[in-house]
Amino acid sequence: MASADYNKWHRPVLLAETIEALALKPGGLYVDVTSGGGGHSAAILSQLNAEGRLIAMDRDADAREETRKRLESLNTLGSYSVRSSKFSSLSLNLFDEEKGHIDGLLADLGTSSYQLDEADRGFSYHQDGPLDMRMDRSDGESAAEILAWIKEDDLAYILRKYGEETHAGRIARAIVRERKLRAIETTGQLAEIISKAVPASARRKKHPARRSFQAIRIAVNREFEEIEALLEQIPVLMSSGGRVVIISFHSLEDRLIKQTFAKWEDPCECPREFPICVCGKKALGKRPYRKVIEASDEEVEENSRARSAKLRVFEFGGVG
Ligand SMILES: C[S@@+](CC[C@H](N)C(=O)[O-])C[C@H]1O[C@@H](n2cnc3c(N)ncnc32)[C@H](O)[C@@H]1O
Repeated sequence: MASADYNKWHRPVLLAETIEALALKPGGLYVDVTSGGGGHSAAILSQLNAEGRLIAMDRDADAREETRKRLESLNTLGSYSVRSSKFSSLSLNLFDEEKGHIDGLLADLGTSSYQLDEADRGFSYHQDGPLDMRMDRSDGESAAEILAWIKEDDLAYILRKYGEETHAGRIARAIVRERKLRAIETTGQLAEIISKAVPASARRKKHPARRSFQAIRIAVNREFEEIEALLEQIPVLMSSGGRVVIISFHSLEDRLIKQTFAKWEDPCECPREFPICVCGKKALGKRPYRKVIEASDEEVEENSRARSAKLRVFEFGGVG
């Protein structure tokens, strides 16, 4: 398959910036925990020599199949494996000899274009399909199952927090009212309930269901809990000098990553007025770039998804 076709499945964002931020060592061990269509994975693998190794992971079976096809099509020296894993099971899916030896780890968060565009996956408010939204269709409850029991207040909270939906209360009320009449089982049904629930002014610009679909997807896949679990495991998995690169698309995710990296760099908990540190907490490494990296105007023009992408880097070791 030509690379343009792979880009239809999912066009990787900030590709050159990611490779630069990883400061790739050709003989190193790299883990891509969000392989998706394999765009970033392919670029990493292409830079490796015969000693270099890539582990490409995703919780989505369709993504792993696409990654496998893409990596197989490359003529490279480095070796690779494609593994099923969600962030919270990362350590369980690494061998002991890999732990503590990872030279670079990439997490390109959120969903792939394929997941969003494929009606059958149940993420799309543009096309009708089963109301699923799970990245791993063998794990946990679908959006339809959750919407059948969730309390109205909790639903409103999710819509407000993860979707920044200003009409969260009205939408939650409408969903709860509708489910008493009939089961909400398709994306089309949900999109219609939301469209009818919001005031006419909210129907004029972007699709009125956009924010709610995002919020429900984040809740279904426990995306924040997963990122927290990933960040907790990372420090013991990396080699000295190893770099972690995380690309996020949601302001809450970016804030969590920014705060975690700052804490890794300066974990001291002593009161400011103490002349020396007595808590004994040592820096795990440093942030090689202070500032967040964002897509160029040219990239945003070619791929609007890149508009909200924020890339942050942390380098382990090399301190005190
Ligand atoms: C933005 S896409 C990655 C695209 C990829 N970098 C590429 O170049 O094609 C995000 C991917 O991460 C996966 N993903 C999201 N959350 C995950 C989690 N908690 N554990 C494992 N995979 C996850 C999704 O299934 C999706 O395939």
